[in-house]
Amino acid sequence: MTQQVFARIAGTGSYLPEKVVTNDDLAKVVDTSDEWIAARTGIRQRHVAADGETTGDLAYHAAVRALEAAGVQASELDLIVLGTTTPDLVFPSTACLVQHRLGAAGCPAFDVNAACSGFVYALTIADKFIRSGAAKTALVIGSETLTRMVDWNDRTTAVLFGDGAGAVVLKADTETGILSTHMHADGSKKELLWNPVGVSVGFKENEPNAGVRINMSGNDVFKHAVKALDSVVEETLEHNGLDRHDIDWLIPHQANLRIIEATAKRLDMPMERVVVTVDKHGNTSSGSVPLALDAAVRSGKVQRGQLLLLEAFGGGFTWGSALLRY
Ligand code: UT7
Repeated sequence: MTQQVFARIAGTGSYLPEKVVTNDDLAKVVDTSDEWIAARTGIRQRHVAADGETTGDLAYHAAVRALEAAGVQASELDLIVLGTTTPDLVFPSTACLVQHRLGAAGCPAFDVNAACSGFVYALTIADKFIRSGAAKTALVIGSETLTRMVDWNDRTTAVLFGDGAGAVVLKADTETGILSTHMHADGSKKELLWNPVGVSVGFKENEPNAGVRINMSGNDVFKHAVKALDSVVEETLEHNGLDRHDIDWLIPHQANLRIIEATAKRLDMPMERVVVTVDKHGNTSSGSVPLALDAAVRSGKVQRGQLLLLEAFGGGFTWGSALLRY
C-alpha cells in the first residue's frame, strides 16, 4: 500500500512595508473618522508600500523569512505558487520574478488570481502537487499592493485596504499536515466587488472609474461573505468528521472584524482563539491569511500539533478554506 503524503507547513514568513497610515491620517484627507472605521471594520491602521516598492518585493522578503524558518534553501524548492491580484507586471508572473530573485531557477512558478482568496487557492494547488507526489518542497505566497488601486478620495474603500505579504514553505510529510482544502467561486456577482480596468477589455481613460480602482458594494459583499464563510466552515468540519470545538485556532481572512466575529460565533469559538490582525494590517487581500498565520506562529500562539482552520472570501466571488495540523 502506498503511504499517504501530507503537505506540512515547515516555516512561515511575512513582510509589511515600513510606512504606516493610521485612521487619523486618513481623516485628514477624506471625510471619515477613527471612530467610524474602528467601529465598522476593526481597522486602526494599515501599511502602505513605498513608491517603487512592488508586490514582488513584499513577496520576496516574506519568502526569505519563510525559507529561513523552514531551514530550506531556495534551490530545494520544486514549486512556487503566488496568490495576487496586484501583480508587478502583466507578465512575467510575479512568481517568476520572485523565483529569479530567490535563485530557485528551474522549478515551476506561477500566479493565482482569486482576489482575497488568492492564498487559500494557492495553498490548495500546492497541497495537490505534494499529495500527488509532483512536488516535495513548495513555496506558497500571498502578496498584494492593493493600495495601488485605491481611490484615496473614496471613503467607502480607501479606509479598508493595506499592503503586505505572507508565505509558507510546505514539505511532504508522512504523518500530518494539510487535512483538507475547499475552494468555491461564483462569477455571477462580479460587479459587487471588482476592478473594471483590464488589458483585454481595453483601458478606457475617459470613462468614469478610469484608472485602476476598486469598486465595492460593501453591504452586499458583507452579507455574501458571512454566508459563504459559514457554509465553507460547515463543509470543512463535515468533510473531516470534526466537531467545531476541535479547532484550536481560526485564522480568517482579515477584511472586517464583524465578519470574523460572525464566523467565530458560528464555530462557537471565543475570540481568544481567533487570530486577528485586521486592526494593524487592514485588508491585505491575498496577504491577509498568511500574514495572520505568521504573526500567530511567531508570537507563540500557534503551537506544533494544533488544528488550524484558515478561510477567505474575495472578489469573483471566490471563497475557500484549509484545515491543517500545524
Ligand atoms: O476582502 C474582500 C471582502 N470584502 C469584504 O468582506 C468587505 C465587506 N464589507 C464591509 O466590510 C462593510 O460593508 C464596510 C466596512 C465596507 C461598510 O460598512 P457598513 O456597515 O456596511 O456601512 P455602509 O456601507 O452601510 O455605510 C453606512 C454609512 C453610509 O452613510 P449613510 O448612507 O448611512 O448616511 C456611508 O456613506 O456610513 C457611511 N460611510 C462612512 N462614513 C465614514 C461609508 N464609509 C465611511 C467612512 N467613514 N469611511
